Amino acid sequence: MSVAIRAEHLTKRYVLRHQVREPYTALRDVLARKARQAGKALLGRNEQIITEDFHALNDVSFDILQGQRVGIIGRNGAGKSTLLKIISRITEPSEGRLFIKGRVASLLEVGTGFHPELTGRENIFLNGSILGMTKAEISRKFDEIVAFSEVERFLDTPVKRYSSGMYVRLAFAVAAHLEPEILLVDEVLAVGDAEFQKKCLGKMRDVAQSGRTILFVSHNMAAIQNLCDTAIYLRNGQLVEMGEKDRVIATYLRSTADLHSIQLADRKDRTGSGAVRFDSIELCDEHGQPASALQSGKAGSIRLRLKKSPAVSVIRNLHIAVGIDDEIGQRITNLNNELTGNYFSESSVNEPVIDILMDKVPFRHGQYAITLYATVNNEVADWIGNAGTIPVEPGDFFGSGKLLPDGQGNFYVGHRFKLH
Ligand SMILES: Nc1ncnc2c1ncn2[C@@H]1O[C@H](COP(=O)(O)OP(=O)(O)O)[C@@H](O)[C@H]1O
Ligand SMILES: [Mg+2]
Repeated sequence: MSVAIRAEHLTKRYVLRHQVREPYTALRDVLARKARQAGKALLGRNEQIITEDFHALNDVSFDILQGQRVGIIGRNGAGKSTLLKIISRITEPSEGRLFIKGRVASLLEVGTGFHPELTGRENIFLNGSILGMTKAEISRKFDEIVAFSEVERFLDTPVKRYSSGMYVRLAFAVAAHLEPEILLVDEVLAVGDAEFQKKCLGKMRDVAQSGRTILFVSHNMAAIQNLCDTAIYLRNGQLVEMGEKDRVIATYLRSTADLHSIQLADRKDRTGSGAVRFDSIELCDEHGQPASALQSGKAGSIRLRLKKSPAVSVIRNLHIAVGIDDEIGQRITNLNNELTGNYFSESSVNEPVIDILMDKVPFRHGQYAITLYATVNNEVADWIGNAGTIPVEPGDFFGSGKLLPDGQGNFYVGHRFKLH
């Protein structure tokens, strides 16, 4: 079988710029920005730009054969989306080479692929012609695409007015029906509802059976197992393993480096006496085993490891509060031992471990920022704003096979309906 995609030493480097500057002098900022756009950095006397190289992908090489169905796995920030963007030519590698044989259609993040000012109908034709199809060929597929996407009523609306769910429906329908030889799908499917996801996976299976090459990024191991024959495991921009899917998935799930743990010992942006300090945050699953994420509707816990100051012999009246913020920075709740009535009057343990246990994780899938706060004897001992983010994976909270739709809030409230 011939090679569909060959990646040779793909590297994607970003230069991160940290600018240290005074918070005033708006006019100067404007001028500086203009000058920078012209390629010259104009800096004020007290301004400094610190740059730092960062590798989103680092020396990644592989061959994918025609008809191979490849799942790409790895935790957030591993470089999965960057790899798909390079293969779909949305971005260029900093180093390395890529050979592709066949037309590529991709379903990447919401916001790529479609022209926002054009209507759904116009975008279908635009995408088809990008894939090298004639108008007649696209017309033949048109009805099927519209039927699959379920956005018929909005076909003549510019896609910038679509909700993210509608956008993904249409984008998936286009990518899957326009008969590309290579189909790339990033985890955007996660924004659709469970039923639509099922439909998409079914369609991808059809595409796969017709011998097309598929690259599929997902956090859903069941979906990868179901659809793919091969998997690639990326970690910190590097390829850890590629091969038979079950073996690679097992490596990924075993890998302790992929357990979610936030180290706090070196954090300097904290206040408090230091009588106790937060040392790390970990997540545990329903069995109390370290986990990479919490899951909506399942039991799970947040484990806080603390360190007692050697100067303190006994910790009295330890109070712990964990503020949880959503992706736009709104405080959505506070986990707090006084609120729950769990008082800790005395402890002389040097490295206390505190588990915050949830019988049914109420948070909707997403990333949540956490703030940690501890007092000892009513005095602030440690306080870290934005200590890190914890991922929550989608889960079937109600056992109904349905997820809380996009834009309908951050957490689940256990409830039932009754008709009298
Ligand atoms: N345009 C960019 N500028 C700087 N860093 C970026 C850019 N795009 C992605 N990154 C970083 O590259 C890393 C890999 O990102 P990504 O490929 O999106 O990971 P994944 O899809 O596996 O979650 C992340 O740390 C991300 O923050
Ligand atoms: Mg991604």
